[in-house]
Amino acid sequence: MSSTDTLAIRLSQLRYSWPQQQQACIDIPVFTVAQGERVFLHGPSGSGKSTLLALLGGVARPQSGTIHLLGTDLTRLPSATCNRFRADHIGFIFQQFNLLPWLSAMDNVLLPGTFSARRRHQAGDLRTQAQHLLTQLDLSQALWHCPASSLSVGQQQRVAAARALIGKPEIVIADEPTSALDDARQQAFINLLLAEASSVNATLLFVSHDARLATHFDRTVALADINQPNREPA
Ligand SMILES: Nc1ncnc2c1ncn2[C@@H]1O[C@H](COP(=O)(O)OP(=O)(O)O)[C@@H](O)[C@H]1O
Ligand SMILES: [Mg+2]
Repeated sequence: MSSTDTLAIRLSQLRYSWPQQQQACIDIPVFTVAQGERVFLHGPSGSGKSTLLALLGGVARPQSGTIHLLGTDLTRLPSATCNRFRADHIGFIFQQFNLLPWLSAMDNVLLPGTFSARRRHQAGDLRTQAQHLLTQLDLSQALWHCPASSLSVGQQQRVAAARALIGKPEIVIADEPTSALDDARQQAFINLLLAEASSVNATLLFVSHDARLATHFDRTVALADINQPNREPA
């Protein structure tokens, strides 16, 4: 597994500071995730987890370093190409889910297929895969056509997971998606997500402040062990 061809994520000499801030927020000499690996990344609130995910999504641009996803260096892509790459290859589950509240649960799940021909194609029949994912994620059929805004937090979370997984993106990134749930439901959701990610061979990067959730992942990483924003510049 040493070949870089097998890596889903490879960060090298990555530095990012927020505008008007002297101190770097992200300074990662090296970090890699193999394809198909399911990694749990934890760190306290304010430690830079969401900032790192914004860099991985191409939403924030680093001051220096490289971000290879599936062998493509995002830092070399113009922003329109970067947005396309994200839509084609990455499924995101956000802390607040970011569902479109007026759309039904089903239409929220179908959305990535309207933005990405690749994911539409990989889904086979898009609607059939949406139904399959919602069923696997235990969202009762009676709710599929209800507006997302009418669903409970736990139901919205499962819709967000189905939306991230549809069209088999190679990389699924989850930013503290369980923080609104009680402990038992957090672990149940994580187990579903792990199983669904494996069934489509996705690489999963799951981020949380709560290190107790780490069980069942292939690997656990503390952000502080890879991110050294206080080191002397090389
Ligand atoms: N939009 C922003 N503008 C300026 N600073 C920000 C912004 N978002 C986050 N930060 C700063 O970056 C640091 C890390 O924040 P964040 O990545 O959200 O941490 P985490 O997700 O681990 O809680 C914090 O010090 C925060 O103040
Ligand atoms: Mg965060």
